[in-house]
Amino acid sequence: MTLAIEHLEVSYGRLAAVRDATVTVASGEIVALVGPNGAGKSTTLLAAAGALQPRGGTITLDGASLLGLSPEQRVRRDLAMVPEGREIFRTLTVAENLTVAAGAGRAKPGTAEVMDELLALFPILRERLRQPAGQLSGGEQQQLAIARALMTRPRYLLIDEPSLGLAPLVVKRVYEMLTELRRRQGLAILVVEQSMRRVLSVADKVCVMRDGRVVATFAGEDLSDRRRLEQVYFGLAD
Ligand SMILES: Nc1ncnc2c1ncn2[C@@H]1O[C@H](COP(=O)(O)OP(=O)(O)O)[C@@H](O)[C@H]1O
Ligand SMILES: [Mg+2]
Repeated sequence: MTLAIEHLEVSYGRLAAVRDATVTVASGEIVALVGPNGAGKSTTLLAAAGALQPRGGTITLDGASLLGLSPEQRVRRDLAMVPEGREIFRTLTVAENLTVAAGAGRAKPGTAEVMDELLALFPILRERLRQPAGQLSGGEQQQLAIARALMTRPRYLLIDEPSLGLAPLVVKRVYEMLTELRRRQGLAILVVEQSMRRVLSVADKVCVMRDGRVVATFAGEDLSDRRRLEQVYFGLAD
């Protein structure tokens, strides 16, 4: 069971934003895609979610190609995304944000149960259920964005810079939640961050992206070689 993005190429008009990106996420894995601003990380996620059409390469889920499927069709294949900037509906209540999201997934009974389960995981959202989402703090909004994506019961979650604009302690909490979700639901997570340091403690695998290319992938023991990771990140080594 794997989400495999291989030799991905994505362009905006004539600008080749992603030139050669290979990232694979096995079920239950947390994989981080890191790299400086403009490296092509968000573009890679957007292509995986179906919001952008690649110019080359393959994207498969459990061996079946996702190319040509709409974002909604990919959600039905258990792939969900939390976009950069969270994009919650600020004037809708927390509860409304969650139920609207459920409609994007498979039309199936049990929405209330899924919501109950998620509110147990994110108790602060239960307290805020009837408040407009725009009144939540940044950390609460990030939790809502994650919970909203989870309403569709994904097996694979794509999440773009969850730490953006959050205080360090809140970031820590968000990452604790991601590991908890992996543990409880076997969720596979592909997380994008600019900072390598932030993901090192949680990721099973770290892919480093620079100038549209995934230039290195670290897993297992290699992840403890901080010095080498930093050299690759900053382009001092390949
Ligand atoms: N909507 C867009 N239209 C044109 N160029 C874009 C667009 N989005 C991103 N880019 C460009 O594509 C490259 C990769 O961007 P992005 O994937 O957002 O990088 P990252 O998420 O790693 O910061 C950058 O050069 C960026 O300026
Ligand atoms: Mg980005």
